[in-house]
Amino acid sequence: MNVKVFTDYEELSEAVATIVVDLIKRTPNAVICFASGHTPLLACQLFVAKILREKIDVSAIRFFSLDEWVGVPPENQGSCHHFFYDVIFNPLGLTKNQVYVFDALTNNEADECKKMDEAIAAAGGLDLMVVGIGMNGHIGFNEPGVAFDNYSHVMALDKSTIEGGQKYFETNTILSKGITIGLQHLIETKQVIMIANGDKKAEIIKRTFDETVNEQLPATIMKTHKNGTIMLDKAAASLLSANQFDASH
Ligand code: GLP
Repeated sequence: MNVKVFTDYEELSEAVATIVVDLIKRTPNAVICFASGHTPLLACQLFVAKILREKIDVSAIRFFSLDEWVGVPPENQGSCHHFFYDVIFNPLGLTKNQVYVFDALTNNEADECKKMDEAIAAAGGLDLMVVGIGMNGHIGFNEPGVAFDNYSHVMALDKSTIEGGQKYFETNTILSKGITIGLQHLIETKQVIMIANGDKKAEIIKRTFDETVNEQLPATIMKTHKNGTIMLDKAAASLLSANQFDASH
């Protein structure tokens, strides 16, 4: 696993944006999966801006949303659906057949997961995943205790995820389950980047580095990936010891 530490959130986001743009230039039909949330927001805005500025052709890319709050309608500004349409899909003019988001209102969760797994397979697998980390070490809605060999699935949310998740919503919102791309997909993805910024993530990042790979701390799966990188700003890396990262990126 590679580790890169950047001065601040802006530098970190710029580096992620460059990786995404370079991938699309190299592989015009790239298959990309992103987490939504506060951490990747600036990276998404920056890569979209670069694509538009440099007039890069994105008509062949495929874009997957990592997860969704079950029961939250797409028009709710706190939904992952809303985030991706607002920040990426609409600005880039991506068409319906290029984008894959879970239907949070489905009455058949198993079928919804199966559709996502089939779409990833039909796209030829994921080239790049950019994920965040929850305060409890989750990736997407792969909460502590998740089986690492799960493909897409639905999981009951941790109390901390339900409470922390309120930050995305204008009014108090009932959250109980998440539908998510699974960690087996992450393992099978060609390149995976986990990003974290800010002091509030320092503790869980330290635990991710210190602990052995275990399903109670899903982010530890990053250590098993053949092409995985954890990219942090200084604040998120502040509890790591010097030998846990190479600051000279
Ligand atoms: C959320 C999402 C994840 C996200 C994580 C961190 O609950 N399910 O996909 O990566 O928690 O979010 P943030 O970047 O807002 O801290």
